[in-house]
Amino acid sequence: MKSTNGHHTAKVEDILNQWGFDSNPYMTMNYYRDILFELFVNREVSLEEFYMSMKLNTSVFCIEGDNGVGKSSFFRRCAFGQEQVDGSNIITNKITITKDTVESSFLLMVLSAVINVLKSVSNLSPESKEELSEIENIVTIQREQSTEGSLYGMISHTRKTGKSEQHSPKYTNLNMLSELADIGDMCKADIDRKIILPIDDLESEKCDLDQAIYLVGLLRDLIFTNNYVVICIGEPGIREKLSSSGRTRSIFGESIILNGLSFDDFKRALEKRLKYFSNNGTYISPFDDDVYKKVYEYSYGDIRWAFNSLNRMFELLIRKNYIVRTYGISHALPILQEIEYKAFTSLESNEQKLLSVLSKHGSLSPSDKELQDVMGLGREAIQKLAQKLSEDSSLLRKKKVSRKFMYEVGPIIKSLENSSLLNQ
Ligand SMILES: Nc1ncnc2c1ncn2[C@@H]1O[C@H](COP(=O)(O)OP(=O)(O)OP(=O)(O)O)[C@@H](O)[C@H]1O
Ligand SMILES: [Mg+2]
Repeated sequence: MKSTNGHHTAKVEDILNQWGFDSNPYMTMNYYRDILFELFVNREVSLEEFYMSMKLNTSVFCIEGDNGVGKSSFFRRCAFGQEQVDGSNIITNKITITKDTVESSFLLMVLSAVINVLKSVSNLSPESKEELSEIENIVTIQREQSTEGSLYGMISHTRKTGKSEQHSPKYTNLNMLSELADIGDMCKADIDRKIILPIDDLESEKCDLDQAIYLVGLLRDLIFTNNYVVICIGEPGIREKLSSSGRTRSIFGESIILNGLSFDDFKRALEKRLKYFSNNGTYISPFDDDVYKKVYEYSYGDIRWAFNSLNRMFELLIRKNYIVRTYGISHALPILQEIEYKAFTSLESNEQKLLSVLSKHGSLSPSDKELQDVMGLGREAIQKLAQKLSEDSSLLRKKKVSRKFMYEVGPIIKSLENSSLLNQ
């Protein structure tokens, strides 16, 4: 007998089949090599810039771009491509810095990422492998302990190879940096490859940028050894911020700046997806071009939101078993609004009010008198509301214009603008 769940899955598959798909074509593209190669569009110039930086032995550079513009997938695309081209580098999984990341947790994360990727490299010498597994043991113990906060701020000597040191509780940041340096040397000597560390999500909504700048600065000496390449992926202007610290100023290469895809590229990406996930090349496109155009318009170049919205819209068509045919704006827009309205109503009433006002007035700053009057709140209170809302850029987007922060509504609110839902 089938479980309710199993039954449900079978039914969804059935309906998807009627449309001609194996799975929801709008679903967030995983960063698997084949899918990425197949579905990636444009960015040829930026790809060339990336490989040029590699050729020029740039040891640290940035990939900058707005929310959801395609930074992470661009990096994966470059990384897979470069492996295919000459295989000259070892690329770790992405490293992310959150609001809670401190020195020790950051360095442990980097160490783990490096060890993980090297473990799967077959032609390391037996000595290197042994050293690596020794370091791995320590790192495992430290990661377990670090949750208890016992690591932070301890001072000790660098690790000497030898088992007796393995269980030393005094495993400091300096120890970790010197392990990383050792591993870099090892990699160079054994297989003549560099280690690439992608540090992703360097955005003020996702981490404390000052802290992130400091943490990346810790890797400076590693970067100088020329066995590592650090790639910082984040919001526009991230290079300027990172290189403002004395520790890192001198070492930064140029940024690769990613702009939003054009509508034609977005459409091409969609068409590729539909085809890729169709079960024999014949399928019914769920939405027409006008729908794509509208979603693109609302997205401000945040194609992460755009794909995700189409994904949820199509999911709803399937769940409610809509007739299999191509839907235009008049059907699709209410579906999008139904989905996004839920996100809006889950907010507090003050937050809803601020978003409604901004949706009507365009971008404003908390110091604008006009905004304060409508809200019946002072600058600080508005600033606080706006700050919180802008942690989700699909609700509210923060921009710095000259020296003031301006806020404008994000795609979720934009998509509700003509629906009268915002004014209820
Ligand atoms: N050049 C491209 N061609 C086709 N699809 C793309 C391209 N770039 C990005 N995408 C798709 O757009 C979505 C968002 O991309 P991605 O996650 O890389 O953006 P991001 O800039 O890293 O977002 P965030 O700001 O949230 O970190 C993904 O589903 C990805 O597959
Ligand atoms: Mg990303």
